[in-house]
Amino acid sequence: MLGRERELLIEAFDSNWIAPLGPHVNAFEKEFASKVHAGHAAALSSGTAALHLALLGAGIRPGDEVLTSTFTFSATSNAITYVGATPVFIDSDKVSWNMDPNLLRDELVDRRLANCLPAAVLSVDILGQCCDYTSIKSICDEFGLPLIEDAAEALGATYGGRPAGSFGQTGCFSFNGNKIITTSGGGMLVSDDADLVQKVRFLSTQARDPAPHYEHSHIGYNYRMSNLLAAVGRGQLELLDEHVRRRRANFDKYVERLQPLPGIGFMPEIPDGTSTRWLTVITIDAERFGCDREAVRLELESHDIESRPAWKPMHRQPVFANCRSRISGVSEAIFAQGLCLPSGSRLEDEQIDRITRIITGMQNRT
Ligand SMILES: Cc1ncc(COP(=O)(O)O)c(C=O)c1O
Repeated sequence: MLGRERELLIEAFDSNWIAPLGPHVNAFEKEFASKVHAGHAAALSSGTAALHLALLGAGIRPGDEVLTSTFTFSATSNAITYVGATPVFIDSDKVSWNMDPNLLRDELVDRRLANCLPAAVLSVDILGQCCDYTSIKSICDEFGLPLIEDAAEALGATYGGRPAGSFGQTGCFSFNGNKIITTSGGGMLVSDDADLVQKVRFLSTQARDPAPHYEHSHIGYNYRMSNLLAAVGRGQLELLDEHVRRRRANFDKYVERLQPLPGIGFMPEIPDGTSTRWLTVITIDAERFGCDREAVRLELESHDIESRPAWKPMHRQPVFANCRSRISGVSEAIFAQGLCLPSGSRLEDEQIDRITRIITGMQNRT
């Protein structure tokens, strides 16, 4: 927390709007939509809820297939299964670490020939960085597929001057505790399609038909955001640019101290895009550095410093073992070598010094 969050939370509490509706929910939606250049927004209980409702909003049904990124957190592919559909995993490119447009195209060309096109594409803007949307959007248009954007990790990022979350039919965000702005837990769905967002609000409040009594003609969900948490979210959103500035400054300091070491690399920044550097992720080439990323992780842990391997690709997860995938090996290499370093917005210079000193000392340690 950096700004007016506490003040707004107390204001919400004192107003007695202790409910999954209220003035802060409405204001948060408006302010958020404007920040990400979207026509409309629905504040929800999590990013996963946003993905689930985005898929329902796109009309995805049991038996459908959805092409998605393999290099992601399980929430993306879990949501696809919630609507009875099956994920098909596409590997990353080396430029953005996001869905490789060439592999996406190859998969769609094969499927068109076999007459089994999927129902949608669910792209993921991983680790604070947008995909190559020039390519991905034109491929989706060419094959007539809706694009849903999982921007849970990328609030504040841009591509071609446009904000993350604004590229698909819907954009989905998370305010989970570890995200660049947080409400402790929460999410947002954005879209230019007013009817779609209206439908999402309807489904997120148990699909209550207009009537004085409780009347239901659809299955609904309890997915709406609390007014208290929306107040915190508004305070956080006011300082989003400052959070991005701090995360990028963390990254620059890590680069300055670690780039000179042999075998250490950094997540690239896509041409024409600005990453938030939500997390600073390094890659460790064990042969050149002298020890592998797991040894570095354990050493940091022994100093009470948490770091974590980059996402293990979904096509390698036991729960998705039977799903189809189109794999080049890029995400597996990132998983083998990638380590997410401490990246909080309040990280101090001395803390980064301490972390980088420990990593530097690991060189040639077998
Ligand atoms: C890529 C991605 N998608 C979806 C989610 C789900 O968001 P939430 O935890 O708010 O449900 C997360 C993070 O948690 C994520 O990292």
